[in-house]
Amino acid sequence: MNINNILFWLLLPYFILASSSSSSFCNHHDTSALLLFKNSFALNTSLQYYYGLASCSSKTESWKNGTDCCEWDGVTCDTISGHVIGLDLSCSNLQGQLHPNSTIFSLRHLQQLDLSYNDFSGSSLYSAIGDLVNLMHLNLSHTLLSGDIPSTISHLSKLRSLHLGGDYQSMMRVDPYTWNKLIQNATNLRELSLDFVDMSYIRESSLSLLTNLSSSLISLSLSFTELQGNLSSDILSLPNLQQLDLSFNKDLGGELPKSNWSTPLSYLDLSKTAFSGNISDSIAHLESLNEIYLGSCNFDGLIPSSLFNLTQFSFIDLSFNKLVGPIPYWCYSLPSLLWLDLNNNHLTGSIGEFSSYSLEFLSLSNNKLQGNFPNSIFELQNLTYLSLSSTDLSGHLDFHQFSKFKNLFYLELSHNSLLSINFDSIADYFLSPNLKYLNLSSCNINSFPKFIAPLEDLVALDLSHNSIRGSIPQWFHEKLLHSWKNISYIDLSFNKLQGDLPIPPNGIHYFLVSNNELTGNIPSAMCNASSLKILNLAHNNLTGPIPSAMCNASSLLILNLAQNNLTGHIPQCLGTFPSLWALDLQKNNLYGNIPANFSKGNALETIKLNGNQLDGQLPRCLAHCTNLEVLDLADNNIKDTFPHWLESLQELQVLSLRSNKFHGVITCFGAKHPFPRLRIFDVSNNSFSGSLPASYIKNFQGMMSVNDNQTGSKYMGNQYFYNDSVVVVMKGQYMELQRILTIFTTIDLSNNMFEGELLKVLGELHSLKGLNLSHNAITGTIPRSFGNLRNLEWLDLSWNQLKGEIPVSLINLNFLAVLNLSQNQFEGIIPTGGQFNTFGNDSYAGNPMLCGFPLSKSCNKDEDWPPHSTFHIEESGFGWKAVAVGYACGFLFGMLLGYNVFMTGKPQWLARLVGCVLN
Ligand SMILES: *[C@@H]1O[C@H](CO)[C@@H](O)[C@H](O)[C@H]1NC(C)=O
Ligand SMILES: *[C@@H]1O[C@H](CO)[C@@H](O)[C@H](O)[C@H]1NC(C)=O
Ligand SMILES: *[C@@H]1O[C@H](CO)[C@@H](O)[C@H](O)[C@H]1NC(C)=O
Ligand SMILES: *[C@@H]1O[C@H](CO)[C@@H](O)[C@H](O)[C@H]1NC(C)=O
Ligand SMILES: *[C@@H]1O[C@H](CO)[C@@H](O)[C@H](O)[C@H]1NC(C)=O
Ligand SMILES: *[C@@H]1O[C@H](CO)[C@@H](O)[C@H](O)[C@H]1NC(C)=O
Ligand SMILES: *[C@@H]1O[C@H](CO)[C@@H](O)[C@H](O)[C@H]1NC(C)=O
Repeated sequence: MNINNILFWLLLPYFILASSSSSSFCNHHDTSALLLFKNSFALNTSLQYYYGLASCSSKTESWKNGTDCCEWDGVTCDTISGHVIGLDLSCSNLQGQLHPNSTIFSLRHLQQLDLSYNDFSGSSLYSAIGDLVNLMHLNLSHTLLSGDIPSTISHLSKLRSLHLGGDYQSMMRVDPYTWNKLIQNATNLRELSLDFVDMSYIRESSLSLLTNLSSSLISLSLSFTELQGNLSSDILSLPNLQQLDLSFNKDLGGELPKSNWSTPLSYLDLSKTAFSGNISDSIAHLESLNEIYLGSCNFDGLIPSSLFNLTQFSFIDLSFNKLVGPIPYWCYSLPSLLWLDLNNNHLTGSIGEFSSYSLEFLSLSNNKLQGNFPNSIFELQNLTYLSLSSTDLSGHLDFHQFSKFKNLFYLELSHNSLLSINFDSIADYFLSPNLKYLNLSSCNINSFPKFIAPLEDLVALDLSHNSIRGSIPQWFHEKLLHSWKNISYIDLSFNKLQGDLPIPPNGIHYFLVSNNELTGNIPSAMCNASSLKILNLAHNNLTGPIPSAMCNASSLLILNLAQNNLTGHIPQCLGTFPSLWALDLQKNNLYGNIPANFSKGNALETIKLNGNQLDGQLPRCLAHCTNLEVLDLADNNIKDTFPHWLESLQELQVLSLRSNKFHGVITCFGAKHPFPRLRIFDVSNNSFSGSLPASYIKNFQGMMSVNDNQTGSKYMGNQYFYNDSVVVVMKGQYMELQRILTIFTTIDLSNNMFEGELLKVLGELHSLKGLNLSHNAITGTIPRSFGNLRNLEWLDLSWNQLKGEIPVSLINLNFLAVLNLSQNQFEGIIPTGGQFNTFGNDSYAGNPMLCGFPLSKSCNKDEDWPPHSTFHIEESGFGWKAVAVGYACGFLFGMLLGYNVFMTGKPQWLARLVGCVLN
């Protein structure tokens, strides 16, 4: 809703009143219809808070039987007939159902009807609306109406303005039939606003009917309507169009006209759409253009210099595009520019000096801007919003200069690694008292900033990734408890804070203090924060139990208490939190059983309880976690048989039971497609026995398909607030993958008592990166099919009873970086070529009957091995050349270099890999 619209509706009663005389008396039928309408609703004076409006008045309170209805608040009558022709009950606190028999539909003379900003509690709009055929203005936006817009709305052929939907609580939908008829019949429509109405069924051809309204349409607003397809650029050529808002329809594309624009256009919002192409110079002909929002589209090319001629601009938003080059110089001098948003582009060069100081909103974040922080920014006295994070700006800056902005409510300077900001200052200074959002992540702050203390209205504070030392000052604890009533977001993580945990205030949603050195217990009072969505206290030194009061925080989405020193039992209630999405309690000292009340329909995607002292059996109700993707129970004392009852979990990708007391045979329970998406299967260091779990392995579909497009690989988890991590073991080295690549695929069955033959079917797991079957009692030979594991980067079969020759097909494994076949009974010649030229003696130790490079024991010269090996290579479609040039660093190892590597020594293979990747 733009300002003109609001003004129009505010002033409408005055226009109408001005033309009506006070001599009319209300028609009897209309009086009783209005009274019955009034009585069908309750009054709820808290609706204004819900809608965020300053104040609403209960207009119907002045409606009394026996008085002239033409005098009632919000009612307008025809001067001659006394019929009610206008009804404005916008923002009147009405609450209740709108019934199909509602008497409002009997006011047939109505020309204006405005019921916006009331609460009709999800009722539908009934077809009786089509009876009000004299309506010229209809506004039912922001009323919590739902359901289909009735087709009879097309009877309203006199409509000049129509407003439905309005906010995300509107659940209305329009079907193509109704839409087509409406647009064909209501040919006088000047304003059409259907924001948040579901229009996903409306096709391009139906949408283009709008051009039929070319002589009338002035304002069109269809944001958040799920429109799809390509919109013809004709819409931007409608001769009378002044305002167009199609924002937040990510599947709606189109291009801007090259010429022939709607000349009166003053407001254009295409943010978050798929509009693309160039912004043509001809845009400069739009002399009335005042606000332009083209953020998060696919526009490319230069920002047209012709925009300079549009000196009347107040709002420019070109954020999240691919716009390139320096910031156009005219941005600094537009005399009435209030809003400049160029964040998330590929802008280069330095920020120039401003010569016009009208700006109120400036965002240049996430660009490649260089050079000094321009001094003239501090002349922008009216600035309320300043975002300059993630740039390459350099030089020195005194933070106290920001106290010049007296009206600032948003300040973001995070992630400017080249910029040195001096936060110390001899004189005390005060930032704008209006400051609500302060984001100073990664700003090299090393003591707790005092300038926060006077800020009474803080909503969000981010001081993460600094080096703030020492305990949290008392004034900060006090502020949290007594002053900051509106605070919703606090991030103090990745600092060096010590001492007690601060207690977050009741209304807070995000409380992030992970990766500090905090000690002591988690206070019960902390759990009064019943609106908490995300609580992250991971990586501290907290001790004592998880307080049972944690059960008050039942709206949690993420609970991360990982890597502390917490003891005691896991509170049972955690399994019943309806929205909990990630539960991470790994690496504490928790003991006892795993909670046994995971409820049906829970939202859990990640459960990590590894690295504790949990014992007992696994609760069967874990099978209720049907959204589960990661289950990590490694390094506990759980004593049970294999949880085959988890095999029906369709989303499970990571299952780690490593280092527990699991035992028995692993067999499929009977699901047709057990564990269909599993990619990391780690049951190492247990006491499993029997043959290798063939019935599962042949069904691991998640490990069979190879996604060739590895550059587009993704990590699991919500990137911002939670990354799934998992520890895997490679050649005896623990590696923590801080984020799990969706292409990471491993099987680890090592250190158990598996016996029987090595399975051919393993060769079908084509996307496997790592296979560890070491320290078992596996017999037989390596199947040739292992040559099909083309993505394999490590293979450990050591300490088994394998025999026979090493199949030459293994030289097809171009990414194999680690091979361990030691302590078996292999015999014959070690294949040469490919990665086999890089393995050392260790790979083969304890196999007395092996010979050839790299072992010193040479093979019998008569042995006819080259043809033998060529045979295998050709069979698999590989020629010598391909093998010779093929060996390369594993993709995964390259990716791993960024992760924490926990090593006791510095193994050669790792050093070799590092060298390989760096070269
Ligand atoms: C209004 O008052 C009249 C006369 O007292 C009565 O007949 C009628 O039912 C009342 N109407 C309503 C809607 O209360
Ligand atoms: C309208 O219908 C509802 C239920 O459908 C009923 O409760 C109400 O009394 C009816 N109102 C009138 C005025 O008939
Ligand atoms: C178009 O409007 C006229 C006048 O209200 C009405 O009679 C007619 O039924 C409408 N047509 C459609 C298809 O709704
Ligand atoms: C800007 O306006 C000047 C004159 O006012 C005109 O000469 C020039 O061509 C215009 N530039 C563009 C790019 O439209
Ligand atoms: C700042 O805002 C005030 C009040 O709206 C206005 O009078 C003044 O001109 C503005 N300053 C600049 C430099 O635009
Ligand atoms: C946690 O406490 C232990 C024992 O007091 C200490 O050795 C360790 O350095 C502490 N860790 C952190 C992150 O403060
Ligand atoms: C963990 O807490 C126990 C007491 O509960 C203490 O003895 C131990 O030193 C702590 N460990 C660390 C690493 O802080």
